[in-house]
Amino acid sequence: MDLELQNKVAVVTGSSRGIGKYIAKRLAAEGCRLVLCARGEERLAETAAELEGEGASVLALQTDLARQDAPQNVVNRAVERFGQLDILVSNVGGNRRKPFEDTTDEDWESVLDLNLRAHVRAARAATPHMKAAGGGAILFVASIFGREAGGAGLSIYNATKSALISAAKIMALELAPAGIRANSIAPGSIRFPGGSWDRRVREQPEEMKAFVAQHLPVGRFGRAEEVADVAAFLVSARASLVTGACLNVDGGQSRSLI
Ligand SMILES: NC(=O)c1ccc[n+]([C@@H]2O[C@H](COP(=O)([O-])OP(=O)(O)OC[C@H]3O[C@@H](n4cnc5c(N)ncnc54)[C@H](OP(=O)(O)O)[C@@H]3O)[C@@H](O)[C@H]2O)c1
Repeated sequence: MDLELQNKVAVVTGSSRGIGKYIAKRLAAEGCRLVLCARGEERLAETAAELEGEGASVLALQTDLARQDAPQNVVNRAVERFGQLDILVSNVGGNRRKPFEDTTDEDWESVLDLNLRAHVRAARAATPHMKAAGGGAILFVASIFGREAGGAGLSIYNATKSALISAAKIMALELAPAGIRANSIAPGSIRFPGGSWDRRVREQPEEMKAFVAQHLPVGRFGRAEEVADVAAFLVSARASLVTGACLNVDGGQSRSLI
């Protein structure tokens, strides 16, 4: 299946490691020109070099996306460098796990800035360029915990991920006439080297075995490559009728019917 991604310009936020990196690698393998961003310079440079070594054109931007002006700057720099912007994969995200009663305004603001405002700002910055080009694709990386209750300690994370899915749906309605599609994906528990699940498996092997047996119907964690494949499809021409959707990439982990 030809995804028709050759020469497209894609911004992937939070892409020096983890799911964002794998999405960037997958898009690069399909011929996209890539804009990567993260705070840590060293890892970002390593990832950029890895993609360039695989033949991709890459612009790597060291930035803190939780800052108000950062998403607009990333989009500006992308367009300055490559002359267009076709795809935005807004992947960056984090969490502050604590009981609801202990959460502070600062906790909420901090996670809202990263998990919601950074996505909204990046999408708002990207749309004029996509409109000018006659279309584009926006993908928010949410979580199954935006579709169902993640459990105690996750009030902030859950709320931001639900908001992302919700915003993408309304964006899809408003942007459809301009040929811009907006979707989200809801990964389940995804393990990759150096990631949080990988660390937990190494630190608490028995607990994690029990977690897999109880919560993961496929009997294993998801792989970042599996998320990347779905992301690449959703931003490609092969998903031209898919907009306003949220697709689980979770091996059946989530229990929600919606
Ligand atoms: N892993 C999972 O099981 C899972 C499941 C469901 C959903 N998700 C979602 O998938 C997305 C990626 O998760 P992940 O597990 O791959 O995360 P990760 O391993 O923590 O990687 C996050 C990436 O974003 C960058 N980043 C973090 N804060 C940033 C900031 N303020 N400004 C710019 N870049 C920043 C990081 O680099 P720096 O730290 O150097 O900035 C890194 O490149 C998140 O939205 C997460 O909620 C993950």
